[in-house]
Amino acid sequence: MSEGDAPRFRRLLVTGAAGFIGSCFVRDSLARRDGTTIVVLDKLTYAGNLANLAAVEADPEQAARLRFVEGDIADAAVVAPLVADVDAVVNFAAESHVDRSILDPAAFLRTDVMGVHVLLEACRIEQARAAGGDRAAAPRFLQVSTDEVYGSVEHGESREDDRLEPRSPYSAAKAGGELLARSYFVTFGMDVVTTRGSNTYGPYHHPEKLIPLFITNAIDDQPLPLYGDGLQQRDWLHVADHAGAIGHVLEHGVAGETYNVPGNNERTNSEVVAALLERLGKPWSLVRRVEDRPGHDRRYAMDGSKLVALGWTNRVPFGEGLAATVDWYRTNEAWWRAIKAGDWDDYYRRQYGGRLAGSREAG
Ligand code: NAD
Ligand code: DAU
Repeated sequence: MSEGDAPRFRRLLVTGAAGFIGSCFVRDSLARRDGTTIVVLDKLTYAGNLANLAAVEADPEQAARLRFVEGDIADAAVVAPLVADVDAVVNFAAESHVDRSILDPAAFLRTDVMGVHVLLEACRIEQARAAGGDRAAAPRFLQVSTDEVYGSVEHGESREDDRLEPRSPYSAAKAGGELLARSYFVTFGMDVVTTRGSNTYGPYHHPEKLIPLFITNAIDDQPLPLYGDGLQQRDWLHVADHAGAIGHVLEHGVAGETYNVPGNNERTNSEVVAALLERLGKPWSLVRRVEDRPGHDRRYAMDGSKLVALGWTNRVPFGEGLAATVDWYRTNEAWWRAIKAGDWDDYYRRQYGGRLAGSREAG
């Protein structure tokens, strides 16, 4: 959608939008100034950050169309009245980090499965109200899912009807959430669409993830903990393209359908790290080879032709997007240093303490 186009859904509930991708979706949606109003529901976990929405708050016209509610998507009492007032729900809220799902899976089941269930039940109540004439139409529900539900893809590209073979507690929980969403389309005839995005990068990305962790550590000349042989492959998608594709599926997606959102930029982790070190002017000697992630998926890759047929194409070339991202972290130190204060040290010790003690230079 571009500035001026009238949106199909004008009142949105966007969950998890104090996080990385959801906040981009909100910033970009409100910046179109097309009259869209957004209620954000976010629990403000360690990953939620109101600073990600500061640009909206700084613009009176946009701020007037945003309402922030701190709360849990798994809390039906909070969710129900919010869903009653919107035309569509876009569910970004999730525990999103694979490594944390290995350290502590329970929170992933609560949010990524039970939270989806609570949101769907609230939509089902609204569907009944629409059938009874109490509202014009039932809300659309868009579930933001991930390419990780396909599991590790040794060859070729996953298509939407391929088998789901998730291999981490995170991806198993995400698969559970999206299967539940689809079941509400099949069983209750609800208006449900799902997107499966690939590895996303860009500004406001929490520094626990590969690209921002390595940029921010390298700025401080700290070791970069590369898992295993560093030859795992990921398909990198700029956050503005991921958020744009989700908006496109919200507008145009067919109920009951799932859409892959690939980046079409497959790289090994070593290649990505080399590129960001070059941009920073920092040496490869910062890279440490550390013990691998258990059950580490070797490769993700998706076929994106269904989304292209729906009319969406990505805009940000990887080289440009990565360079701009490195520059963003260089000029926004206050943003990530605030995150790396607080309870960051405990997590970092748990995740990397033993690994870095037993590490070696990458060579
Ligand atoms: P993130 O971790 O940056 O943000 C998650 C947000 O959800 C945070 O603001 C957090 O406070 C909020 N949240 C967590 N639990 C909640 C709960 N119970 N109730 C309400 N809010 C809660 O995540 P992200 O990287 O922006 O990912 C957003 C979505 O996109 C997730 O569903 C994730 O699975 C999916 N996804 C992410 C990527 C990626 O590469 N980052 C790729 C594909 C799909
Ligand atoms: O593919 C989509 C998924 O991408 C999303 O669903 C997840 O929410 C998102 O976190 C991301 O998952 P990954 O596990 O692929 O991202 P992460 O940044 O954690 O890791 C990317 C690759 O880098 C992976 O092969 C593991 C490796 N890695 C990661 C970290 C944090 C390292 O080698 N060292 C590290 O310290």
